[in-house]
Amino acid sequence: ADPLEDYDLSRPLNSKVGLRQGLAAYGDAHFSLFLRKAFIKAAGYGEDALTRPVIGIINTGSGFNPCHANVPQLIEAVKRGVQLNGGLPIEFPTISLHESFSSPTSMYLRNLMSMDTEEMIKAQPLDACIMIGGCDKTVPAQLMGGISANKPVLPLVTGPMMPGSHRGTRIGACTDCRNNWAAYRAGVMDIEDIAAINDELAPTSGTCGVMGTASTMACIAAALGLMPLRGASAPAVSATRLRVAEETGKNAVAAVSDEYRPQTILTKESFLNAITVLQAIGGSTNAVVHIMAIVNRHPDVAGTITLDTFDEIGKKTPLVVDLKPSGDGYMTDFHNAGGMTALLQTLRPLLFLSARTITGQSLGEVLDASSPHDFPYSREIIRPLSNPLYPRSSIVVLRGNLAPGGAVIKASASKDRRLLSHAGAAVVFSDTADLARRIDDPKLKVTADSVLVLKGIGPIGHPGMPEAGLINIPRKLGAMGVQDMLRLSDGRMSGTAGGTIVLHISPESVMADSVYGVVRDGDIIRCDVENRLIQLDVPDEEIVRRIADRKSANSTKHATGKKRGYRGLYERSVNQAEHGVDFDFLTAAGPS
Ligand code: FES
Ligand code: MG
Repeated sequence: ADPLEDYDLSRPLNSKVGLRQGLAAYGDAHFSLFLRKAFIKAAGYGEDALTRPVIGIINTGSGFNPCHANVPQLIEAVKRGVQLNGGLPIEFPTISLHESFSSPTSMYLRNLMSMDTEEMIKAQPLDACIMIGGCDKTVPAQLMGGISANKPVLPLVTGPMMPGSHRGTRIGACTDCRNNWAAYRAGVMDIEDIAAINDELAPTSGTCGVMGTASTMACIAAALGLMPLRGASAPAVSATRLRVAEETGKNAVAAVSDEYRPQTILTKESFLNAITVLQAIGGSTNAVVHIMAIVNRHPDVAGTITLDTFDEIGKKTPLVVDLKPSGDGYMTDFHNAGGMTALLQTLRPLLFLSARTITGQSLGEVLDASSPHDFPYSREIIRPLSNPLYPRSSIVVLRGNLAPGGAVIKASASKDRRLLSHAGAAVVFSDTADLARRIDDPKLKVTADSVLVLKGIGPIGHPGMPEAGLINIPRKLGAMGVQDMLRLSDGRMSGTAGGTIVLHISPESVMADSVYGVVRDGDIIRCDVENRLIQLDVPDEEIVRRIADRKSANSTKHATGKKRGYRGLYERSVNQAEHGVDFDFLTAAGPS
């Protein structure tokens, strides 16, 4: 019988299926259902359609988001998958964030997107939800919001863009954006070449084509068991991408059940698998922040995984995927080499195979069922554990008096590995404006052994922890052939960038007690990656005195909640990098 046809009083109105969800709005639940049916019929749905499980599809297409330009085709394919399997697909918008068009930073808006995602999944009468994302902050925002909403959620990423070409060499956003810009900046490349390269860096729709943050988060969503494995890497413009979308629609209908809620499927082991994948792919350092934020949304996993977990797993996990920025390839190479299936087959001894996936199979069962076709063909792109690109610990967690809350370095992306154990005198920049003003000043007192220190770009500092951690080599040193220096900041770095760069220093410089905030020109800073150390070689008494002086001068910029709107909410509520830069009131440990 049609549960909606007759407003049947004998049927429980709190049934979780379809339009019967959340009917308390008008006090009279039957009237609410009556009203709701009247309005949904205005969209043209017939009675049969309204008896089906409702599968929400989050549309994050936007004219400002070319990484999501294929969303309309994906939605069409998703709808086909839903309808062929008896569900009713209904799409709805949430905000969309593109890296380049989100001022002051996309990270500043990530939590807003997570709130939008969570609240709309909770508010609307949907039984499962497909979250279409892709660009860097979108997948983390959706996973955070989806886990908090705790209805069955299925991420679907837009997929990587194709590489472009310049003078016979493949190029792609955005590792090659940086390399080529650096060459132009150093006077090695002329204006015609850099302009031609600009045309080819992002030649199709889709996300950045290297192992940047978007690709990393796609691999992590797959490692968590929430999406088909080939869904992590199928190109945005491929037919495979559309078939993955169709499959996701089918999976969503099958996932309409309490046992597929994310807080049920995802366990500590799911996240340990994701962190193993992060280390093995030489993934973006941004993913460390995002994974901490996602973990801390999960009531049963929060607190069991910390920054140190990343380091412990790193020590056991070789970097085996040869993609930029740690290696040479592009996401299309990874996909053609077998993608996540081949990678997980390679990593099998390091994984928790009992972790569950959205189809009900365990990860081990998914791998057992994969065809030989999915095993790596090219042992150059996905290397065997015995012949890695980097032996272990591609991402390392550092601690010391300079970063009691921790700091992160992508050791595998260091260009001058001697700098991984280095001590030098600090050259301090108080913020990005100061950096822009002085970094290329011919009179700047700096040598190749100096340590470049950029303050003021932490979670609150900028705000939103901008990806300014890749400090340019001072032009006069660049012209002498210096390609890498030890660089420190409390901010982030694009997942597509490389260099010997210490990031996410916590507490950030604008916090009253921050040791990093009182570093001065000429102070000796020691970085010893092997021993996980980041140290300021200044006597403790002197550090205490500097912090006291700074407090009495009240010279920290730490806001005290006087700002209006979202900015005020952000500054009052955001936590530090090691906790995920989430709002304290959204975490599982926060208010209920
Ligand atoms: Fe969207 Fe790189 S700018 S993924
Ligand atoms: Mg990025």
